[in-house]
Amino acid sequence: MDVPHATAHPGTRHSDMVVVGGGVIGLSVAWRAARHGRTVTVVDPAPGAGASHAAAGMLAPVSEVTYTEEPLLRLGLASLARWPHFAAELSEESGIDVDHRTQGTLDVAFDADDLAALGEVAGFMEKLSLPVERLTGRECRRAEPMLAPSVRGGILASGDAWVDPRRVTAALLAALARRGVAAVADRVTGLVVEGGTVRGVRLAGGGTIGAERVVLAAGAWSGSLDGLPPEVLPPVRPVKGQIMRLRGAPGFLGHCVRGVVHGSHAYLVPRGDGEIVLGATQEEMGFDTRVTAGALWELLRDARELVPGITELEVADVAAGLRPGTPDNLPLIGPSAMDGLVLATGHHRGGVLLCPLTADLVTGEPSPDLAALAALCSPLRFHEARRQGSTGSHR
Ligand code: GLY
Repeated sequence: MDVPHATAHPGTRHSDMVVVGGGVIGLSVAWRAARHGRTVTVVDPAPGAGASHAAAGMLAPVSEVTYTEEPLLRLGLASLARWPHFAAELSEESGIDVDHRTQGTLDVAFDADDLAALGEVAGFMEKLSLPVERLTGRECRRAEPMLAPSVRGGILASGDAWVDPRRVTAALLAALARRGVAAVADRVTGLVVEGGTVRGVRLAGGGTIGAERVVLAAGAWSGSLDGLPPEVLPPVRPVKGQIMRLRGAPGFLGHCVRGVVHGSHAYLVPRGDGEIVLGATQEEMGFDTRVTAGALWELLRDARELVPGITELEVADVAAGLRPGTPDNLPLIGPSAMDGLVLATGHHRGGVLLCPLTADLVTGEPSPDLAALAALCSPLRFHEARRQGSTGSHR
């Protein structure tokens, strides 16, 4: 992917904002900041090549909700509501369609136990007044004819949507290039700190970039930056996800399809051009990004249970990425305990979903609505605990 205005040795320069990390989160923040008239520099050795390259792009806060994660649901719903406007503006400014699709997620069950579990989830969703519809097996197959005949029932989360994250990255890079935002193809090795305030970043290739604000959006790598006290470093860990992309015909699936197969969640995400993304593993393997035969076998085995016809499709691509997980599964967005340093990381399974909200939280005008959401993902929740020597999670 082309990097606009890339330069390896910028010497010393200055921007209002330096964004460390050129994934969908960092690029979204940079784009929104540039739209607000700020001078911005993005630093990443290979923008869009990390988790954003592997992501399926589900905007699915409803179908991905779990019992203990209502704060995450609130963030997800707030960001989902921002996506239509964000996608439209981004497509208009970049000339790239991000394949924003809004047909919803169909979550299906195979046996009586699955169905009972799905029924309980549906009850939980209904209690939260989420827009879900319970379907019989026949209704599921009518909505999605390629589903396995053994599907017993399901839930349709009609508000869920999805985008193609690779197109989102390409669109953000194009929009940034049009606004003259500098992208530096280098690695940040540490921060420039003066009198306890972050004043810029140091580059592996030499030189520094000064800034009023540094935004740390380096995904799973956000916890390994030199120059920060341990209690300020974000507590993120890599959670590996492997995916497979198949080449289908447009219309092969109309919805995003999910189900629990062999005890794990499997999903199929259809693109407008017929591509189907099968996902995804969740592995605690450190910074390992190898694509393994076992994982691909499991993805195919599970996806075939949901939609048997996928075995006829051509394999287009396989990829592994590292989600930035946090101890409480909530992201870390907002001012850190050090002046001049803002975090935009820890988005775990929801990086693509949370792009518009993250950009608003970092660059938007303060409002009571945003303040309530900002409180849920403030990085300071961990700083306090770490200062007191506690390692517990804080919700
Ligand atoms: N949000 C889907 C995943 O992380 O696999």
